[in-house]
Amino acid sequence: MMTAKAEAAPNIAFIKYWGNRVDILRIPLNSSISMNLGGLSTQTTVCFDDSLETDVVNINQQPATAEAARRVSEFIDIVRSLAGLTTCAKVSSWNNFPMGSGIASSAAAFAALSLAASKAAGLNLDESELSRLARRGSGSACRSIPAGIVEWHAGDRDENSFAEQLAAPEYWDLVDCLAVVNEGHKRVGSSDGHRLSYSSPLQELRVSDSVIRFNQCRQAILTRDFESLADVIEQDSNLMHSVMNTSRPELVYWNEVTLTVIQEVIHMRKKGLEAAFTIDAGPNVHVITVNKSLQAVKRHLESIAGVLRIVVAPVGREARYIEVDGDPS
Ligand code: DP6
Repeated sequence: MMTAKAEAAPNIAFIKYWGNRVDILRIPLNSSISMNLGGLSTQTTVCFDDSLETDVVNINQQPATAEAARRVSEFIDIVRSLAGLTTCAKVSSWNNFPMGSGIASSAAAFAALSLAASKAAGLNLDESELSRLARRGSGSACRSIPAGIVEWHAGDRDENSFAEQLAAPEYWDLVDCLAVVNEGHKRVGSSDGHRLSYSSPLQELRVSDSVIRFNQCRQAILTRDFESLADVIEQDSNLMHSVMNTSRPELVYWNEVTLTVIQEVIHMRKKGLEAAFTIDAGPNVHVITVNKSLQAVKRHLESIAGVLRIVVAPVGREARYIEVDGDPS
């Protein structure tokens, strides 16, 4: 038996990944930037065991749904083929944040799984190889491998599409203040959304000038320029949601509280507070701020009718191995 355990954080994208150039390999159409979410994590143990006849996948101590189990098995197949193994595996995963809370769980899940599965299979991958592997499970997972604020170079093939650090966690005290407005599961998952993105006439436009936003975002982070960061992440998020809204069939992820929170964030910024919104494939609003404005932003968000709760996350660290003690389950 070969066992390994690893932990990874989810991330929130400042410049979004929406649409693939090569779907099966998850080679994206544009480069993206994100920050890891500190304090939130998925821990995953992988054990290759000759006595198993199929892969066994447990998430939060429950058997995974058939769909989730298949996605994990297909991913383990990639690891098996890299390592020349045919053995089945037991995968046990645990999230310290609720699934469906608007925090994309697939990024943390596949980043942790990449580390644990490759190590258990006897592979010793470096950071960019791990990032490339994680990308195969879920595109955004490649950004949960390095620490801090991370850039994913789109590339055009497997070898050159991976993420690397743009700034260390302590470089800038950004904080994500997530306003949860709906705790249900998203109706259309990201993988289907990426495929639909081509049906919007706006997608080509979004992709063609994404380099300008990528560079502005990069520069804003390197110079710790909040105003410029706010300007570019809000536009990038709005562009992605415009593509979603104009896909066929249309994807509408916002609800009425989402729009209220957006308006309040714009209002807070006009009054001099550091606050900027960005939204993934769901209705919840990630409000990016800095430490000194955190309490004021949090109080303001809590006062909005329809905001169920706030999850606070500073810039998080890299995916890492954990010592295994005793039984992996
Ligand atoms: C809106 O990485 O979840 O969060 O590769 O199919 O797993 P798959 O998609 P996923 O897409 C993320 C979409 C997003 C934007 C982002 O994180 O960049």
